[in-house]
Amino acid sequence: MRKPLIAGNWKMNHNQLATRAWCRRFRDIAREDGRPPAADVELAIAPPFTSIPAFLAETGEEEISTGAQNLHQESSGAFTGELSAGMLVELPVDFVILGHSERRHVFGESDERISLKVAAARENQLLPYLCVGETEDERDSGRMEPTIEKQLQAGLSRISLGSADDLVIAYEPVWAIGTGRTATREQAQEAHGFLREILASICSSEIARGVRILYGGSVKANNAGDLAAMPDVDGFLVGGASLDAGSFLSIARAWSGND
Ligand code: 13P
Repeated sequence: MRKPLIAGNWKMNHNQLATRAWCRRFRDIAREDGRPPAADVELAIAPPFTSIPAFLAETGEEEISTGAQNLHQESSGAFTGELSAGMLVELPVDFVILGHSERRHVFGESDERISLKVAAARENQLLPYLCVGETEDERDSGRMEPTIEKQLQAGLSRISLGSADDLVIAYEPVWAIGTGRTATREQAQEAHGFLREILASICSSEIARGVRILYGGSVKANNAGDLAAMPDVDGFLVGGASLDAGSFLSIARAWSGND
């Protein structure tokens, strides 16, 4: 029903040269294994903006979708250093990561701004990967649920979903990102199940049942299988471990081993 999605967020890593090397390694592994890299899962990578053309050129024939890590909500104008959804579509990319905790906490993006970006993505037929997640303080003080509920409600406040294919949600607890501290599978399931309930109240239970909810935060090949066993974990948004094509594919295959 929900096809597993393993997505990599390269953040500010891999220039064009490194991107081409990653793609060659990806192809080599698939060839050595003698089977397509994405037989039963969907794969996606969000390189830095300047590496997207190289990634697209190298992966033309592969079953892997390409995304951006951010956009500006306006379609054009005096916004030095920014890129619009329309410009990203031209590349072309399929999806865009929005509301990532680094955008929220390092660059000060508010729920309001994120909702405008989600709306701009949808208007341009770009699939938003809306990220939500609580900080360690919020979790420790029992505010995990209200925090992610508010982020989800606000992020979706300017769009209406026509189908489950119009959105991907990523649950990324801030305390697990880049720290080596992965959420337990019970913690991940609790948050994902809760997000699906909220989603049902925002749109419909049918759409909520079909939307993929990815887990992100220190996912590696050795913990992927465990998390993948949970019913509401539909894939991963992988940071550090996606930078190496071999470890990225191992995560995808850990998923397959689970089926
Ligand atoms: P890590 O996998 O490096 O913890 O990063 C997760 C993340 O932020 C993906 O968007």
